[in-house]
Amino acid sequence: MRLHPAPCDATKAAPVTPELLIPLPHRRATRRLASALGGALLPGDLLVLEGDLGAGKTFLVRGIARALGVPSKKPITSPTFGLVHEHLARIPIVHADLYRLGDAAEIVELGLVDQIGGEAVVLIEWGERFAEELGGQGLWIWLSLTGEGRVARLEARGRRGEALLERLGAHPEFERLR
Ligand SMILES: Nc1ncnc2c1ncn2[C@@H]1O[C@H](COP(=O)(O)OP(=O)(O)O)[C@@H](O)[C@H]1O
Ligand SMILES: [Mg+2]
Repeated sequence: MRLHPAPCDATKAAPVTPELLIPLPHRRATRRLASALGGALLPGDLLVLEGDLGAGKTFLVRGIARALGVPSKKPITSPTFGLVHEHLARIPIVHADLYRLGDAAEIVELGLVDQIGGEAVVLIEWGERFAEELGGQGLWIWLSLTGEGRVARLEARGRRGEALLERLGAHPEFERLR
């Protein structure tokens, strides 16, 4: 893992966005990241997943759902057409895929904004386009393909995002990814 502090001018107290790069050379590593996230997420947290088709967004959500206790016989798929799936778990899960969402007004109709900060964890594929509507407080994970493997760039936004990244960093499964 490499630390990438944003450029920092010591004369200004500008907020620094914490960012981490995590190599995920195989699916086992992604499952490990998912299990650490499952341990770190708290009710009300927002996790936004970005990356090309096949980058592993849904795979990561599936791992998080398993870590939160969704039984393995319950399929976790991309909610591309239904837009939102809900799962009962240790912490309820709201899983959305906004790829096909037309405009920001539809986000309000989906009731997603109200769920953030509520009782569930909100996991959103393709959420960056609506970052402003989503409130800008959470953890953004940018997945990219590198040969056979993947790399995850973790970007904390706002106080809630930073707190989540801190809890994640302290998780024993996360330590094993370093
Ligand atoms: N390191 C890895 N992390 C995540 N997925 C991987 C990895 N290596 C291979 N894969 C495969 O890549 C695919 C990712 O698909 P999916 O999660 O549906 O992508 P997305 O939701 O980003 O479109 C899965 O078939 C998974 O088995
Ligand atoms: Mg998907």
